[in-house]
Amino acid sequence: MDWDRAAADFDDEPDHGLRDPLVRGAWAARMGEWLPPRPGDVLDLGCGTGSLSLLAAERGHRVTGVDLSPAMVALARAKLSGRDAVFLVGDAAAPPVPDRLFDAVLVRHVLWALPDPGRALRHWRGLLRPGGRLVLVEGVWGTTSPVGIPAERLTALLAPLARDVRVERLSDDARLWGKEVDDERYAVVAVP
Ligand SMILES: C[S@@+](CC[C@H](N)C(=O)[O-])C[C@H]1O[C@@H](n2cnc3c(N)ncnc32)[C@H](O)[C@@H]1O
Repeated sequence: MDWDRAAADFDDEPDHGLRDPLVRGAWAARMGEWLPPRPGDVLDLGCGTGSLSLLAAERGHRVTGVDLSPAMVALARAKLSGRDAVFLVGDAAAPPVPDRLFDAVLVRHVLWALPDPGRALRHWRGLLRPGGRLVLVEGVWGTTSPVGIPAERLTALLAPLARDVRVERLSDDARLWGKEVDDERYAVVAVP
């Protein structure tokens, strides 16, 4: 996938750009439940155009976003201009945040495409402060040739890494996607 090329119209999808107030409100409400209740440091990996970064910043969190695509990072910087947020070009699997720890590592629709998801999860756990959490939003998209990571596989990878793993099914909430969906979509909040 050429993410630099995809960047210009990435936000046209309802759940990407969150332009529809109903869709945006649905994601804002979930983010309120998934992120730590008090403002902290959030690392948004594979942040894309920064739509979830913005929701986190609006809740008072300080955001660091990382994406491999310079075009995505440029759009995220513009979207969060004036906010307490920085965006870096880098690999989500080994983000360029030396000596930093976070209260939440947020990853939406990225883990499934990494070459070694288990290794990435282990690395991300090491970036958390005590009491921190992983917030992972993933799924399996399409029915004829599905791509993604099933919740069952993700929870198996998290089992040795986290003492508390909560899976939330997202397929039934059409407001999140701007349409009805019948494939597997879910979020996981994992606390080591
Ligand atoms: C489906 S988009 C999701 C964007 C954003 N997380 C969201 O939910 O709106 C996937 C994003 O991951 C980025 N990406 C893909 N592989 C990556 C990697 N190894 N490291 C960092 N970013 C990556 C792409 O550039 C793209 O912006």
